Amino acid sequence: MRIDAVSIFPDFFQVLDISLLGKAKAQELLSVNIHDLRDFTDDKHRTVDDTPFGGGAGMLMKAEPWGQALDKLVDSETVVIFPSPAGELFKQATAKELASAKHLVFACGRYEGIDQRVVDYAGSIAKVRLISLGDYVLNGGEVAAVAMIEAIARLIPGVIGNSESLSEESFSEGLLEYPSYTKPSNWRGMEVPEVLLSGNHAEIAKWRKAKALERTGQVRPELLP
Ligand code: ADE
Repeated sequence: MRIDAVSIFPDFFQVLDISLLGKAKAQELLSVNIHDLRDFTDDKHRTVDDTPFGGGAGMLMKAEPWGQALDKLVDSETVVIFPSPAGELFKQATAKELASAKHLVFACGRYEGIDQRVVDYAGSIAKVRLISLGDYVLNGGEVAAVAMIEAIARLIPGVIGNSESLSEESFSEGLLEYPSYTKPSNWRGMEVPEVLLSGNHAEIAKWRKAKALERTGQVRPELLP
């Protein structure tokens, strides 16, 4: 998969070089390319923002630098993602869908957002998704894009060594994950549930399913089937 991200703060994406995703990049399962939006400006001050028509607080991102960036990066197989609190909610299912795309472009806005014509233009040359990380407001799309890239990239075959860890984690069956324990079996007087020491795999699976249901019911009842 190829991922491009456009931002006025390219340094936000340095964390992607750490750990698993760094390895995936090194193994060429994934190529991530970060672009500075200011490189797509033509004026001396590398201006990317201006005041909004109709008035209102703050500045908006100007259309033309984005137009230049999209023209350079997008083709008909690209999905362009605009991280935005006004978008659809990002879920594990969203990550799964996007993990099968060939090419993603993350267009990370700052200030009060991006001129709407950029989104409309992107929609005329590629598939577009406006995606929100959650019901809260960040200062820009970068942190949301990094979170989405991590969630998507770890679903690409080969990026995570043990594919079982994908099938057993939270949301893999629409439920939150059951609690897990490692050695020692007694820590500060607290025992590991006995069934996990039994070696009885059917009983362990039953216990884990029951715990996943119990936890989901307590914390996120809306996820229960
Ligand atoms: N930009 C600002 N807030 C955001 C959010 N909640 N999700 C995605 N992008 C954002």
